[in-house]
Amino acid sequence: METLLLDENQLDIAVKLITSGEVVGIPTETVYGLGADASNENAVRKIFQAKGRPADNPLIVHLADFSEAEKYTRYIPEIARKLAEKFMPGALTIVLPKNEKIPLVTSGGLDTVGIRVPAHPVMHRLIELTGRPVSAPSANKSGYPSPTTAQHVMRDMDGIIPAVIDGGECQYGVESTVISVENEDTVRILRPGCITPEMLGTVSGNVIVDKAVLEGLETGEKASSPGMKYKHYSPSADIVMIESDLEKFTEYVGENYGEGIYCLIFDGDRENFPYRYMTYGKDSQEQAQQIFRRLRELDDCHAVRVYVRSPEKSGVGLAVYNRLIRSAGFEVIRL
Ligand code: TXA
Ligand code: MG
Repeated sequence: METLLLDENQLDIAVKLITSGEVVGIPTETVYGLGADASNENAVRKIFQAKGRPADNPLIVHLADFSEAEKYTRYIPEIARKLAEKFMPGALTIVLPKNEKIPLVTSGGLDTVGIRVPAHPVMHRLIELTGRPVSAPSANKSGYPSPTTAQHVMRDMDGIIPAVIDGGECQYGVESTVISVENEDTVRILRPGCITPEMLGTVSGNVIVDKAVLEGLETGEKASSPGMKYKHYSPSADIVMIESDLEKFTEYVGENYGEGIYCLIFDGDRENFPYRYMTYGKDSQEQAQQIFRRLRELDDCHAVRVYVRSPEKSGVGLAVYNRLIRSAGFEVIRL
């Protein structure tokens, strides 16, 4: 199958594909997704197949407006409504109790569903035109870094899905913040993103960051979100996180340098840095926007091992830190 690369004037083709049960690569403001009709079990199965995704890892359902969530859920807590009011459309996913309109295939067997209202105008229009709830995981092969351009999607999915819509480079670069509601005053962050704990705290009295965001799961420990269980964001290269100042970082790399070794450093570290490197931005926003692209580029360079300067853990930095520490298998060298 030849995969079509569509532009935003060819949305009608994408709409026809989705309403007839096919999978299309779609742009969002976070990362590219693999979109299909969330209410069509066969279409949803095709998503799992294209990604090579474990069947128990649920898909997020994308809607044109949060008011539509009434159709697919059993109950919406007041705090969820307030958060939606403030942050949707946008990079937030709220896990809610699902009803029978969302098949168990879509929810990975859970009785909940993650609801997101994307802000990207092309994606928004696409959902409206299909008139369907659109399930969409990130459009990478399972375990690989998420795609932030249509070309990344083509690289992972060419010949596997019928079409990809090119909506330009993603604005945020990391996936949405996923939260669950503990009670009317408390939310739990299952996956950090560009809607930060601080931002959620302006609406919710209590914001808990799930332990697995920073530390990973112990053997046998139950995951609050199935996605936490799986190895993720991993390029072929071995990623090694180093938490230290630039001087100690440079010294450490020097002692461990050789063929295939690369460094991922901050823009500001560049001057006189003596080893092979790529940079990933000067602040957390830029780091988020660039991180997946860099991980893919490091593979293009055939990097064998990458020493990464550990980012800030506050604000959007928490999302960058979470993606990197997962790609590093939760190991950090502190100097
Ligand atoms: O920004 C995003 O959220 C992107 C774009 C395409 O919208 N989508 C995305 O989907 O990142 P995916 O499937 O790659 O990641 C969804 C994560 C997974 O880790 C999954 O386990 C978790 O959200 N998740 C989904 N539904 C859930 C549920 N009902 N309960 C707990 N976790 C859930
Ligand atoms: Mg993903």
